[in-house]
Amino acid sequence: MYPIWVVPYLTSGLVIGLIASFHILPSHLAVGAFWFNVYIERKAYREGRPELLAFVKRYTLLILIFCFVFGSLSGVGIWYAATVSSPRGISALIHNYVWGWATEWVFFLIEVATIYVYYYTFGKVDERTHLRIGYLYAVAAWISMIIITGILAFMLTPGKWLETGGFFDGFFNPTYWPQLAARTALMFGIAGLYALAVAATLENDSVRRETSRLAGLWGAVGLVFGALFTLWYLKKLPPEAADFLFGGTLPYLKKLLYVAGVAWAVVLLYFVVFGLLAPRANTLVGSLLVLVVLFLGILAGEGLREGLRRPYIIAGFMYGHQVVGTDLPAKGIKSEVEILNEKGYLSRLGYLPPELRRVTDQNRLVVGRILVAHQCANCHALSRKGWRSLPKLLEGLGMTDPEDLAGFLEGLDGYPYMPPFVGTEEERLAAGAYLATMINQNP
Ligand code: HEC
Repeated sequence: MYPIWVVPYLTSGLVIGLIASFHILPSHLAVGAFWFNVYIERKAYREGRPELLAFVKRYTLLILIFCFVFGSLSGVGIWYAATVSSPRGISALIHNYVWGWATEWVFFLIEVATIYVYYYTFGKVDERTHLRIGYLYAVAAWISMIIITGILAFMLTPGKWLETGGFFDGFFNPTYWPQLAARTALMFGIAGLYALAVAATLENDSVRRETSRLAGLWGAVGLVFGALFTLWYLKKLPPEAADFLFGGTLPYLKKLLYVAGVAWAVVLLYFVVFGLLAPRANTLVGSLLVLVVLFLGILAGEGLREGLRRPYIIAGFMYGHQVVGTDLPAKGIKSEVEILNEKGYLSRLGYLPPELRRVTDQNRLVVGRILVAHQCANCHALSRKGWRSLPKLLEGLGMTDPEDLAGFLEGLDGYPYMPPFVGTEEERLAAGAYLATMINQNP
């Protein structure tokens, strides 16, 4: 086991969630925008209307700066955050999908190179060549989505991989196609909204109106298909996940679904009214405000998708606290739960000084805190203020006594959304003792 990253108030899980949700804004823009961009460019050439190119240039510059500065930074941020908050989870993914990521990065490099070439060759190469550079970018960007979606979907529904350990068995998993379809459609919604913001800044009245109308059309169609594909995705959810969402096991997930739905409706309304019907009324401020709404919708949607995977990082295989929970004979991997219950969890924390690797009367509270940090802090704040506060939740259940708390830990996996507490009975009692002081010291 690696050391654990305890993030005060927020929890490490939420940190990744916030970075990853922000990353959607540039990443899906990067993938969706160029289809619209080359469409407008082609229209400009075909209809002999060079004034439309003002939009294409400005939109490209936005993509170049926003996606390739903020997108790259937040993308690296996800890697850092995931590596420190869940090193064993990311390691399991890398061991399976290192060639998937390598392939994705090849296409990502093509994206980075072609967008610069595209931007700086405006008017310097002939029209057909310039369009081809644009298509090359659009296809390469979409292929990077095709690949990364396989790995994302794998984490919720690893499918046959749980028996075979095979790369493609996990990659083309039960939620892969609906999720790829939904992201592909929704990226046009995201790209359409940015396009409306860019269009609003154009000086030429008729170009502004026309590009606003077309952006509204593309965005609205993307959102409508996105919703249909999302329904397909929800239908493909495994029964446990569907029960979290629709059965009321985790009621907050349904609220997230409502928030995402309302945001979807607001953005769609903007597309229809300020894009299609009255493009003259589209303004920069209006579209940026709706962009904030869109971001709230993304936060809710991604929070929902991630929440469905509980209690796992990789469903059916590795728990949220990074303990392997099942045998995977195809890869020679064994469940760690039984052995840790027998030999102790602390003994596996090689970074601790030897005297902390077993429970004694002197160190009980210190190692109790370490156990709780490892097994709860990914999802729960250890302070009273903060995300899913542990002292508050425990007190809500009327538990403050060390023995009761240790008993509660024993039955933790009675909750379908929490992993079992792993470790010896002594370790459980130490964790219970720490939880009791945590509640009392956090009035
Ligand atoms: C994989 C994430 C995850 C881990 C790890 C986790 N929990 Fe939870 N826990 C949750 C979620 C999600 C809820 C539900 C919160 C809600 O309803 O909003 C929850 C709820 C709770 C509750 C309230 C239960 C109730 O009936 O209301 C308690 C108490 C709790 N957790 C304690 C713990 C303790 C102690 C640990 C560590 C030993 C732990 N949890 C580890 C995700 C986790």
